[in-house]
Amino acid sequence: MIKNVGIIGSGTMGSGIAQVAAAAGCLVTLFDVHQQALDSAKQSLEKITNRLVEKGRISSQEKDAIQNNIRYVNSLKELAHSDLTIEAIVENIEVKKKVFQELEGYVSDTCIIASNTSSLSIASIASVLKNPERCIGIHFFNPAPLMKLVEVIPAIQTSSQVLATSQTTIENWKKVVAVAKDTPGFIVNRVARPFYGEALRIYEEGIADFATIDHAVKSVGGFKMGPFQLMDFIGNDVNYTVTQTVFEAFYNDPRYKPSFTQKRFAEAGYLGRKSGKGFYDYSQGAKLPVPENNPVLLNSILDRILVMLINEAADALFLNIASAKDIDAAMTKGVNYPKGLLAWADEKSIDWCVKQLDTLYNHYHEDRYRCSALLRTMNLKNETFF
Ligand code: NAI
Repeated sequence: MIKNVGIIGSGTMGSGIAQVAAAAGCLVTLFDVHQQALDSAKQSLEKITNRLVEKGRISSQEKDAIQNNIRYVNSLKELAHSDLTIEAIVENIEVKKKVFQELEGYVSDTCIIASNTSSLSIASIASVLKNPERCIGIHFFNPAPLMKLVEVIPAIQTSSQVLATSQTTIENWKKVVAVAKDTPGFIVNRVARPFYGEALRIYEEGIADFATIDHAVKSVGGFKMGPFQLMDFIGNDVNYTVTQTVFEAFYNDPRYKPSFTQKRFAEAGYLGRKSGKGFYDYSQGAKLPVPENNPVLLNSILDRILVMLINEAADALFLNIASAKDIDAAMTKGVNYPKGLLAWADEKSIDWCVKQLDTLYNHYHEDRYRCSALLRTMNLKNETFF
């Protein structure tokens, strides 16, 4: 039973994870090297929990319990009594390795040491520990208190006991766990790539403008946000870097190739909402562009982005990155897709998916449009995912 939880880094993710663990009744010790980061984590937690009381989501006793369950500390040694530690500091492997080595010197032999990294190899982080079997990836989504999904990533060194305890603990924190293999992007950041990449490609070919592509994805596909809106929300700098990292980690697989369009937007400082301008203009009084409303065009845009997403999800299953159930849960609970991609493939039919992909491949002769071997085999055998 995990009672004492140590969190390293009190930024966006660390403070959110601390709130989740404290709300589930754990005693949380939140550490940061910067006093200012600790102060602002404390202030924002007070603000958030007060608002939850105002909205009637929690009682004022629950608010007090959450606040009292978190201790803010500026020394790593204070995490000595932890049963589980989750690290959420800068995304830099050398810095993380140094902190993990120091931490192992303070905690008990049974303490689980986890990282919230989005892109680094868990095996590599674990390798610096004397006892690497205790290391695991526990990847929350932003904002951690709201997003239901947590990817749990055992490294090749991780013991089955550590995996089982981590999984149960996160489920006790009222989250949905998807277990993923320690590969670049885990589930969500891998499977979601075509949502951005194929939308950018459709724009680059001059098939439609940003507003029309977003409109197709939302009105025909039922997604809450279009790809260009979402890239503006995430930030073109951040989204471009994730794409580039995944592309390089996959030894330049053309399926994950980053886009010049997005690179230029990032270079120009058109980062999206945070800079006031991205694919859209966020300045006061700016007019929203009007999308085209041709149903044939809108359907063809959605079909192309959707089938590329389905292909990615199918390939993740083919390569045993996660189970079909976890892949679908990851996309609906981690990035709010309206349906799981594999369930969507069943609905459209596997034959439809193969034909769409083969049409794209035959037209472009580019490797990025190759159909997953799993879809092809399933089609021959008349199988479905669920
Ligand atoms: P952040 O920049 O908001 O917070 C990082 C915190 O770590 C800062 O308060 C900083 O003072 C502290 N810190 C830096 N070096 C430290 C050290 N050596 N010891 C102790 N504290 C240190 O970063 P954010 O966004 O919370 O990300 C943290 C981790 O979570 C990264 O690995 C990131 O890839 C991952 N992540 C981020 C997501 C996001 O959407 N922001 C989503 C999921 C994972």
